[in-house]
Amino acid sequence: MTDNSNPKTSLPRHVAIIMDGNGRWAKKRFLPRIAGHKAGVEAVRGVVRACARRGIEALTLFAFSTENWRRPKSEVGLLMELFMMALERETLRLHEGNVRLKVIGERGALSQKLQDRIAEAEALTAANTGLTVVVAANYGGRWDITQAAQAVARKVVAAELQPAQITEDLLAQHMSLHGLPEPDLFIRTGGEERISNFLLWQLAYTEFYFTETLWPDFDERVFEDALNSFTTRQRRFGRTGDQVEEEQQREAG
Ligand code: IPE
Ligand code: IPE
Ligand code: MG
Repeated sequence: MTDNSNPKTSLPRHVAIIMDGNGRWAKKRFLPRIAGHKAGVEAVRGVVRACARRGIEALTLFAFSTENWRRPKSEVGLLMELFMMALERETLRLHEGNVRLKVIGERGALSQKLQDRIAEAEALTAANTGLTVVVAANYGGRWDITQAAQAVARKVVAAELQPAQITEDLLAQHMSLHGLPEPDLFIRTGGEERISNFLLWQLAYTEFYFTETLWPDFDERVFEDALNSFTTRQRRFGRTGDQVEEEQQREAG
């Protein structure tokens, strides 16, 4: 495994965020949960801008998990509407900002209209060369690994592949974030310290940062704290600290 963080600035190349705490943010204000989700969209706008400004390559945002279907039907419906509205309102602006939009997750379960909007937004922004924003919608880390296994199994059945050719690299090529650097920094807001079935495969060597800040309150200052924490960490990828330091001195000298 190689250190894929940007050596010049020590900024992460790829940030992945579990945007949690919308409901509690609303509850504190005696507002319906959906008001928290709406405020959360504003926070998304802010973090996208901050990432673009800093030259971060990719930002992956957990918007709806495969488990979130267990919420009350009304909340699920409103979340889907909000996603649709955000796509309709923001896509052009993102495109003008040279942002490439991608959606990961099992799309088949989303409404046809939403699937169409997603496809349109992806097609419009596909050739953009700035920040890549990945929205995880109806996404689960276990789903991701399962669908990769299915894709590989189809190739084995078609005799395009021998089982012995199934390597980590090959599986990675069939996972959702293929083509992007692995996330360097993972942030979860809202105080819970768990993965909740987010990127299981891809977070193997990611640095974790947890904050009590509820997602609608996430701003540039909190993001900066996370980035500062990231830059102080020594990523060893299995090696010793001395080895890493020697390597850095060699690179610098
Ligand atoms: C995260 O906020 C947004 C989604 C899961 C869609 P929550 O809705 O989970 O907020 P809390 O955890 O109830 O505060
Ligand atoms: C994770 O948050 C999913 C998203 C942020 C989309 P949850 O609020 O659903 O996670 P749990 O249920 O508390 O683990
Ligand atoms: Mg939550």
